[in-house]
Amino acid sequence: MAGRSAIGLDIGTSGVRAAELSFGKGRVTLEKFGQVALRSGAVRDGEVVDSDAVAAAIKQLWAHTKFSSKKVIIGVANQKVIVRQVDLPWMPADELKSSLAFQVQDFLPMPVEQAVLDFHPLEELAGEGGSRVLRGLLVAASRDMVNGSIEAVRKAGLSTTMVDLTPFAVVRSLSDPDHLGMGTQVEALVDVGAKVTNIVVHESGVPRFVRILLMGGQDVTDAVADRMGIPHEQAEAMKQQLGIGVQADGMDAQAASRVVEAVGAAFVDEIRGSLDYYLASSGSAPISKLVLTGGGARLGGLAQRLQVTTRVPVEIGSPMHGLQVGKTGLSPEQIAFVDPLAAVPVGLALGAAS
Ligand SMILES: Nc1ncnc2c1ncn2[C@@H]1O[C@H](COP(=O)(O)OP(=O)(O)OP(=O)(O)O)[C@@H](O)[C@H]1O
Ligand SMILES: [Mg+2]
Repeated sequence: MAGRSAIGLDIGTSGVRAAELSFGKGRVTLEKFGQVALRSGAVRDGEVVDSDAVAAAIKQLWAHTKFSSKKVIIGVANQKVIVRQVDLPWMPADELKSSLAFQVQDFLPMPVEQAVLDFHPLEELAGEGGSRVLRGLLVAASRDMVNGSIEAVRKAGLSTTMVDLTPFAVVRSLSDPDHLGMGTQVEALVDVGAKVTNIVVHESGVPRFVRILLMGGQDVTDAVADRMGIPHEQAEAMKQQLGIGVQADGMDAQAASRVVEAVGAAFVDEIRGSLDYYLASSGSAPISKLVLTGGGARLGGLAQRLQVTTRVPVEIGSPMHGLQVGKTGLSPEQIAFVDPLAAVPVGLALGAAS
């Protein structure tokens, strides 16, 4: 393979997923894509809790899919990473980098020594007395949590070259570069997983607002299993058949349908609440589109319900849309099926190009 390439590895609740991209002149090619299921409980609330189980799944993924390298970029999204908009006194980039820890302690809910920090500049503003102020998004992640993921990767015989905030990866894979120069494009991207939902509002590719919710498709399955007293596999199958807002036949299906409806409605309300919060913040621009990705977005009726509730047009995202497809070994049908699940690994790999 000519040129540079990078692999994004998404460690999710339901499985590990990786995409290898190569970067040519003006084009990006999807070289490989693969996924392997994880046993329940290995990743909890977006955090690796059983690094051996995660490592075994990653090993299996590398054995299956012939990735060209053992170097990966991973993402984090859970309660142990916070993203906040902060204003800092302007300073040159290298100075900012070296003094970030001193600058931001007041904004953090954890001691600065226990955090991995990152700062994404958004814009420069005029401060008091003509001083320059740099507004940006501060990302602070618990070092232990990040190390947990790196450890699982290491145990699989791979190495981590970069750790990114998962919602930033989603922006990279879904913001449309063709739109540049056609005015501002403000979109809400919502990647719905099994237990983690990443919401990010971006303005022409620049993240403006990030919210990580510990909710997803698994909450619907768990509720159906609990309420009906049935095993998870059966609850999962019922959920996939039903979806939100269906008229079900038979007593069991009707009961399950009510559960899917209730949990689905609460989930939609959470997403709307997050978007309302963004819209209420000063300087926010109206959202023109909501783009849904992730396995959880496959829940029947979810897109429609979100559209009705938020009054914003909803569409299913295609992170592979702008990519050339190389010799992945996957059929066009398989590519189309996994496309909406690939926002995170594709976006992580794209981070190597920027
Ligand atoms: N056809 C379908 N209908 C409804 N839900 C579905 C369907 N297919 C998959 N799902 C749901 O998608 C969820 C898994 O999505 P995904 O693979 O994006 O999550 P993950 O990345 O492993 O987890 P997370 O991001 O939460 O850590 C599961 O809850 C599953 O029930
Ligand atoms: Mg996920």
